[in-house]
Amino acid sequence: MTATVIDGKAFAAKVRGQVAEHVARLKEVHGITPGLAVVLVGEDPASQVYVRSKGKMTVEVGMASFEHRLAIDTSEADLLKVVHDLNNDPAVHGILVQLPLPDHLDSDLVINAIDPAKDVDGFHISNVGLLGTGQKSMVPCTPLGSLMMLRDHLGSLSGKSAVVIGRSNIVGKPMAQLLLNDSCTVTIAHSRTADLPSVVRQADIVVAAVGRPQMVQGDWIKPGATVIDVGINRIDAGTKDDGSPKTRLVGDCDYDSCAAVAGAITPVPGGVGPMTIACLLANTVTACCRANG
Ligand code: GUN
Repeated sequence: MTATVIDGKAFAAKVRGQVAEHVARLKEVHGITPGLAVVLVGEDPASQVYVRSKGKMTVEVGMASFEHRLAIDTSEADLLKVVHDLNNDPAVHGILVQLPLPDHLDSDLVINAIDPAKDVDGFHISNVGLLGTGQKSMVPCTPLGSLMMLRDHLGSLSGKSAVVIGRSNIVGKPMAQLLLNDSCTVTIAHSRTADLPSVVRQADIVVAAVGRPQMVQGDWIKPGATVIDVGINRIDAGTKDDGSPKTRLVGDCDYDSCAAVAGAITPVPGGVGPMTIACLLANTVTACCRANG
């Protein structure tokens, strides 16, 4: 079997188009422009790339983009003041504090200082609790994008067995919760899971979110399963003509061997990544609509 490629890039473009239409209506009919504020502390290169990309796409869908770039030695009090001011700014409907934060800052404290209604990442403890009890919440963007692709490809997920590899608060745990809310039978596997290949082999749906390049092998995959690869890992890929090192992006799945067995698979790049930003924009519009009744 050769897997169907789930095109996250095209899907994300469609979602961003819908968001742009919604934004245009909010402006025309209600005179409201949704606004997203992104806070970046320090100069982590990967975070800078994400933040730039988020800002660009926010503007492209017609929303207001507010960027707060703070020095790496920013104090917790100063960061909390920025969050507090954004909470009280009526032009800001969504707030995202880019993670990871430098070690001297307490991420939980900072995230929980965000107004839950503006927490477009869905990381605030109130939103985690609401999602965990099946109530209306802000849903974390990467799991939400993954769920949208699964529903689009499979239709109903009810009764399917799903294995989520990875137990992070950002992806693994909320992903498992979403799949459970869609009536999957869910297993959360992780680095200490005994005989991981056998566990993964039971799954109709595999979501790989471990952060280990090309770990999941084709012979771990049940034939016909749907594989969502959340990993974005940069690995060495030899040298360029000028002798400088070359790198490439790979997922947590060994793409070729998994694609040979799976029914469908998301590529890296061009799978989950673009959906994450599209869902962030969609969450910002949702937050704006809820704030304005
Ligand atoms: N760092 C990596 N992914 C994310 C994300 O989805 N949200 C935030 N705030 N930081 C991240």
